[in-house]
Amino acid sequence: MADEPLVLGIETSCDETGVGIVRGTTLLADAVASSVNDHARFGGVVPEIASRAHLEAMVPTIRRALETAGVKASDLDGIAVTAGPGLAGALLVGVSAAKAYAWALDKPLYGVNHLASHICVDQLEHGRLPEPTMALLVSGGHSSLLLSGDITSDVRPLGATIDDAAGEAFDKVARVLGLGFPGGPVVDRMAREGDGSAIAFPRGLNNAGDPAYDFSFSGLKTAVARWVEAKRRAGEPVPVADVAASFQEAVTDVLTRKAVRACKDNDVDHLMIGGGVAANSRLREMAQQRCDKAGIVLRVPRPGLCTDNGAMVAALGAEMVWRGRTPSSFDLSADSSLPVTETHVPGEHGSFHAHAHEALK
Ligand code: KG4
Ligand code: ZN
Repeated sequence: MADEPLVLGIETSCDETGVGIVRGTTLLADAVASSVNDHARFGGVVPEIASRAHLEAMVPTIRRALETAGVKASDLDGIAVTAGPGLAGALLVGVSAAKAYAWALDKPLYGVNHLASHICVDQLEHGRLPEPTMALLVSGGHSSLLLSGDITSDVRPLGATIDDAAGEAFDKVARVLGLGFPGGPVVDRMAREGDGSAIAFPRGLNNAGDPAYDFSFSGLKTAVARWVEAKRRAGEPVPVADVAASFQEAVTDVLTRKAVRACKDNDVDHLMIGGGVAANSRLREMAQQRCDKAGIVLRVPRPGLCTDNGAMVAALGAEMVWRGRTPSSFDLSADSSLPVTETHVPGEHGSFHAHAHEALK
């Protein structure tokens, strides 16, 4: 078991080209190149544009991360990469790059799960995760409650959204209000000027008999759109800040209520919140209040580590090395729908490392 392994992580599952370098649970560099502005006029991420942007950004971002960390590529103990879930073409760019670097540098390769990485990143800020930890992952693509033991091998899904992801709802509501893309940060900002109790928007799957840990945001999104539409049709001004605050209140109420319930039901006293929506100021505030009341310790990484980044991949990669997990093999491929339970993709027929040497003989 290596002590404090030095690992480089590559993340390309969506529109951020992230390259992070960590030593154990210490963050050394977190370089991110985002193509978010290229997607803004389409109101959502365009996969082909994201893939091309990753290709252009990859080498410069890796160089920048190495420079910032002040380490040599030859000193690395491993290279980690998001193998899935995510956009297939975008993932492929990261996996291909990671393989090329691992081959050229003669380092072990670790294909890891994007969702487990979102959880593991908290180690860079708050130290090793307790086992078990409840994780609420809320991003543009996911809204899940996950119960994790050893983060390198044990992540159990308790519930997830049955329709839109929480971040998707923020993005769609922002579009209805004419606030631009991505919607989360701007709705968060607008909401600070508004009254969260002004409009009683519906809370999805919140009745007795509904699945306790699943989420639904599609009805809420439609309710907001109808409410705004009715105002416009009546020729009345739309109170944008109140709509943003009331919508945000509905989302954060359901997320925090279900997360705390999951902790209590499963006897877990640590909750971590990750993913882009964990950057939301009201979610952080409400989660803190409800966790304090329930005697649960809340761990939320700083906003920059909540959104997609390479440091989270490096963090999980370092944990894989530290715990002696089997590296990925030469035939590692991107898997756009990698199940959350597969925290990494170990090589079935020996490691990438061994294969590379075999091929070079
Ligand atoms: O984790 P992430 O960077 O990418 C995915 O894996 O999806 O999350 C992006 C999502 C977007 O939907 C964005 O609107 C949302 O996170 N987001 C926020 C905030 N910052 C980003 N949502 C609510 N409040 C925020 N402050
Ligand atoms: Zn993500």
